[in-house]
Amino acid sequence: MNTTLSASGDLPLNATAGAFPAAGSGTDAIAPRTTLAPGEKLAVHNLTMRYANGHTALRDFNVSVDAGEMVVVLGSNGSGKSTFMKCVVGLNKPTSGSVEVAGRDLAALAGKALRRARLPLALISQNANLVKRRSVLANVCCGTLGRHRTLATAIGRVPREEIEPARAFLDEVGLLHLAGQRAGTLSGGQAQRVAVARALAQRPHVLLADEPVASLDPEAADEVMRLLRRLASEDGLAVVCVLHQPELAARYADRLVGLRRGRMEFDRPASQVSSQQIAQLYVDEAS
Ligand SMILES: Nc1ncnc2c1ncn2[C@@H]1O[C@H](COP(=O)(O)OP(=O)(O)OP(=O)(O)O)[C@@H](O)[C@H]1O
Ligand SMILES: [Mg+2]
Repeated sequence: MNTTLSASGDLPLNATAGAFPAAGSGTDAIAPRTTLAPGEKLAVHNLTMRYANGHTALRDFNVSVDAGEMVVVLGSNGSGKSTFMKCVVGLNKPTSGSVEVAGRDLAALAGKALRRARLPLALISQNANLVKRRSVLANVCCGTLGRHRTLATAIGRVPREEIEPARAFLDEVGLLHLAGQRAGTLSGGQAQRVAVARALAQRPHVLLADEPVASLDPEAADEVMRLLRRLASEDGLAVVCVLHQPELAARYADRLVGLRRGRMEFDRPASQVSSQQIAQLYVDEAS
């Protein structure tokens, strides 16, 4: 399928509503595909999140994830996993504690500096949240928009220099052949891999995935987990993944973190966590 630029700079998007022209100049320079340097990491210190209704969903939570490492967070419904992920990417403002990326405390930053510091943090959710009527490639390009704050990008245009990298990210997740296909036609597994490519277009150093395989069949789930594992091992990303499948966690994670009622129960190499310790996370003390 042809997804190259036309002479006018427009991106032909088969089966989509309209073209997706390049925004042109006037945007930030494209960040190179860098990773955390050796020794750099995501470090979360004493993170506490008390919601406005008074519920404390996370208490004194500490975790660190090195470049190249994959950590899986396990815990029952309501144990605070998504709260933790949202605090890291800035969707939640923690009540106390800090989030450091490569030694920079995000809480100490504000405005443009904070926005820039958060760019290397990408979040993938349970639902791929693709724009269904747009092409796969256009959806991947959307991952670049955080770096380009112009009027053109505000109405959905993408700088033309982002298009070839976006194709490379689609290739990385094995779906370049679907670049021109309408996103709404993808299978769940394909859509989730496109969501990973869109996250990669953000050039993340830290990739957070909140139940990325929840709605996938076992084969598709394995594919997405293999992809996340490879992004850690080969590309040096620090990967944090929330799962409800302990067996997948044991197979792919370097470390397992157990959360129970907002508190850390364990943080150990996956090979050192027993099935009993995992089962204990899901026991309801009230029953
Ligand atoms: N905005 C909010 N206001 C008040 N309470 C909230 C809010 N968001 C989450 N909570 C509560 O915080 C607790 C933790 O929620 P969270 O979404 O982090 O759980 P989770 O571990 O991700 O669960 P699941 O496995 O079901 O996704 C829950 O009791 C939830 O009801
Ligand atoms: Mg959740």
